Amino acid sequence: MALYSEKVMDHFRNPRNVGEIPDADGIGEVGNARCGDIMKIYLKIKDGIIEDVKFNTFGCGSAIASSSMATELIKGKPLSQALELTNKAVAEALDGLPAHKMHCSVLAEEAIRAAIKDYYDKNGIEYDKSLFPEPDEDEELHED
Ligand code: FES
Repeated sequence: MALYSEKVMDHFRNPRNVGEIPDADGIGEVGNARCGDIMKIYLKIKDGIIEDVKFNTFGCGSAIASSSMATELIKGKPLSQALELTNKAVAEALDGLPAHKMHCSVLAEEAIRAAIKDYYDKNGIEYDKSLFPEPDEDEELHED
């Protein structure tokens, strides 16, 4: 059986929503300390809806495919729905990732949350702090 699904390969070879949004309303940048990969997400938000989203990922194929799929999943959606997006949902939408590559999808979940938090902070919007727990350093350093 192939290690990567056709969807992973498709989103890796033809990633959707690559680039930057110069006047983004929220920007989230996260990295994985162990592999050194970095993901940056840009959001354009109007009336609580994600009107546009772009990403730049300096990382492995699974991280690029996860970014691409995650942006597709949140485009046009309300912020509340984007906040509920889990890395598992991203991996499932890609028809799965190998176990040792699941952490790549975590970057997508974290980058989206960081971008939404940035938007809230920049606009003085109150939010429940428990929605944005500090990343667990230990987890990033896990052997995978
Ligand atoms: Fe680092 Fe995939 S190996 S995000």
